[in-house]
Amino acid sequence: MRNTIVMEKIQLVDLQTQYQGIQEEVHSSIRKVIEEGAFILGKYVKEFEESFASFCRARYAVGVANGTDALILALRAMGIGPGHEVITAPNSAAPTAEAIGLAGAKVVFADINPETYNLDTEKVKKAITSRTKAIIPVHLYGQPADMDAFKELAMSYGLRLIEDAAQAHGAEYKGVRVGNLGEAACFSFYPSKNLGAYGDGGAVVTNDPLIAEKVRMLRDHGRKEKYIHEIEGYNSRLDAIQAVILSIKLKYLEGWNEKRRERARQYDVLLSPVQGVTIPRVLHGVRHVYHIYAIKVENRDGLKKKLKEMGIQTGIHYPLPLHLQPAYAHLGLPKGTFPMAEEATSKVLSLPLYPEMRVEQVEAVAEAIRVHIS
Ligand SMILES: Cc1ncc(COP(=O)(O)O)c(C=O)c1O
Repeated sequence: MRNTIVMEKIQLVDLQTQYQGIQEEVHSSIRKVIEEGAFILGKYVKEFEESFASFCRARYAVGVANGTDALILALRAMGIGPGHEVITAPNSAAPTAEAIGLAGAKVVFADINPETYNLDTEKVKKAITSRTKAIIPVHLYGQPADMDAFKELAMSYGLRLIEDAAQAHGAEYKGVRVGNLGEAACFSFYPSKNLGAYGDGGAVVTNDPLIAEKVRMLRDHGRKEKYIHEIEGYNSRLDAIQAVILSIKLKYLEGWNEKRRERARQYDVLLSPVQGVTIPRVLHGVRHVYHIYAIKVENRDGLKKKLKEMGIQTGIHYPLPLHLQPAYAHLGLPKGTFPMAEEATSKVLSLPLYPEMRVEQVEAVAEAIRVHIS
């Protein structure tokens, strides 16, 4: 490892460099939408939906306003609501749990596998009650959850299975792409995601024509025809300006994911010999797309502070597990309820990672960690 001194600042995510490479295409596409006045749904959203479905190797993609709505609409399309329980992970972004509550159901948390940070199937099994209607495994950081085990569980207990794929565009599990590992998969196009819009956006991907049709209705005030509202829905349409931006970025996504994977491998090689650093554990047969590269260290906050002083920005995904958030105090789940998730949230540190990151930048981050830890 080179003895690199950090001179330049290294950001956690760098969207500017990516933008510089695609700005001409982006500007002319946005201009086209404005000149044509094709702002809401229409051909540009449809074009993106078709290409995103094909990227996911699935039949349907329905564009919605954001990833949170994708989850709400998928739950509602499956008839999940009041009186039902839905099991998910406590170490996810708040929207995973929030969507369950907003659909009218009760969120039930289960602990995670301490090595992959994804939901533990055995713990999920123990959380199933007569009111349980669905499981939402989160493909955290871009690594698919152990979906064979979840499918088996869903089959034997008659539960619906929804993928929270907000961080896993293009990830694969045993050769099957995320989007085909449950009945519906919910994606976010939040700007920093592997496929990110220049604003909010999301999609529900499914192979089930009934779910696709229901989500399409729900996102547009419960209608199929202009003035006939069959059910009460939402205004949760993917914006056409975001759709054209996403269509452009989608062409590069495979390459960007590969770059992320290369940089992650480089971190693996440089950090695995460093005592006190646990690198991400990737399940056999899984294609991890590294939305986030998170290491586990004892003195996480000390390391974070030190790296900041050296000009290296890091992140924490997530610092406080959801069951300990004020919003879920009413569930009465004190500290200690989910020890694995609690341990992870106190020790994980997300390192800078983006497709345009240079080899020397990865080396500089790894070297700074090595020097600080040893
Ligand atoms: C795991 C997970 N689920 C759901 C969401 C919600 O997506 P959005 O921010 O687009 O509503 C996010 C993004 O923040 C996420 O990371």
